[in-house]
Amino acid sequence: MKKEMKKAWEGRFTEDTDRLVEEFTASVSFDKRLYRYDIMGSIAHCKMLGRCGILSEEETQKIVKGLERIEKEIEKGEFEFDIGLEDIHMNIERRLIDLIGDLGGKLHTGRSRNDQVALDIRLYLRDEIEEIIRCIRELKRSIIRLAKKNIDTIMPGYTHLQRAQPVLLSHHLLAYFEMLDRDEERYNDSLKRINVMPLGSAALAGTSLPIDQDYVATLLNFPKVTTNSIDSVSDRDFIIEFCAGASILMMHLSRLSEELILWSSSEFNFIEIGESFCTGSSIMPQKKNPDVPELVRGKTGRIYGNLFSLLTMMKSLPLAYNRDMQEDKISLFDTVDTVKDSLSIYSRLLKEVKVNKEELLKSASKGFTTATDMADYLVEKGLPFREAHKIVGEVVRYCINNNNKGFDELTLQEIKGFSDLFEEDIFRYITVENSINRKRSKGGTSKNEVLKRIAEIE
Ligand code: ARG
Repeated sequence: MKKEMKKAWEGRFTEDTDRLVEEFTASVSFDKRLYRYDIMGSIAHCKMLGRCGILSEEETQKIVKGLERIEKEIEKGEFEFDIGLEDIHMNIERRLIDLIGDLGGKLHTGRSRNDQVALDIRLYLRDEIEEIIRCIRELKRSIIRLAKKNIDTIMPGYTHLQRAQPVLLSHHLLAYFEMLDRDEERYNDSLKRINVMPLGSAALAGTSLPIDQDYVATLLNFPKVTTNSIDSVSDRDFIIEFCAGASILMMHLSRLSEELILWSSSEFNFIEIGESFCTGSSIMPQKKNPDVPELVRGKTGRIYGNLFSLLTMMKSLPLAYNRDMQEDKISLFDTVDTVKDSLSIYSRLLKEVKVNKEELLKSASKGFTTATDMADYLVEKGLPFREAHKIVGEVVRYCINNNNKGFDELTLQEIKGFSDLFEEDIFRYITVENSINRKRSKGGTSKNEVLKRIAEIE
């Protein structure tokens, strides 16, 4: 049997909802974070109803005042959320009715929670993306700063995690700048799909009341109104797109993490991460672990998971709204939080990275990293590259077989044994510095090219 009138939809029901069902279906525990946007949307909706003559001037003002008061109550932590009222939308509506009486029930005229929630998420995500873009830019600045500090630092560049050719550390770091630059661009681009106003689609078919969606869009700063009511209550593309962008961004941070973890190991010894950004071990007293990059790498998996949760949740849903979609917010909120935290902590972590320049240089000079330059030398003297490649391969094998000596330990006579084209100047030609500064192709690792890119960025 029914107790008291409480739920917005209970007119059709004769029995109370099972407590377990209430708990199972409620979303207020997580969607309450949308309260600001829900109230913002409701105020705009209410003003529009007033402007269209659906509410009187006085009614409009009372409802707006009530909503503003509720916002303050929530901000002060005085608001009591009730899972029996399912979600943030009905919690706020119920409180409005408590505060201003039956008039509060007029707010929901010409809309449904289906278009309301779509509006709320769009308002929310639009703000969060702006914040995320700010965080990306901050991290990009940290990268530039570290790159400038290391404009002359030479390191081994890798392919297959084998030493390949010497590069500037600044150049390597700026590769991450480029990735983040694309992440920023992707989010900027996604804003045009988020910035569309869905209110007025109501449950799915639109409304017969004489509403003015353009006016709501203007009040809420949306350049456009959605063009199909069925699509606009069932579209979650923009959330999936956000999570896909986040997956790519986290993949970038995860690759950076992996490098910092490797580089700070004693095997590499390229960098040290400041103690305030490391933790110790409860059993091994000597340990200083790179937990922050490890956790960013680990969280990347969860962000991919969120993307897959959403894609899987949506893949078989018939049009239009289905309750399944309530789950979207769990994945979305977690993604937003994780991306913001990871970006912010990385901006600070990079300031705590100490670079062991000598180790990097030593490592760059080992492993015959200028073998390609030696071949280029022969090519400049007219030898076909394939032949030059073979000759230098023989030089490398010779060095390995002779105590693993470096190119710089060869005598002119020894090296001439492989080709007559070698002259004394070969030894200057194959220094790591010369190798780097000859990489003058666009976007190459020569100091000139790197400085050019930094100037362009700045
Ligand atoms: N809490 C719901 C959600 O987040 C709001 C929309 C509910 N609509 C409905 N007809 N039950 O998706």
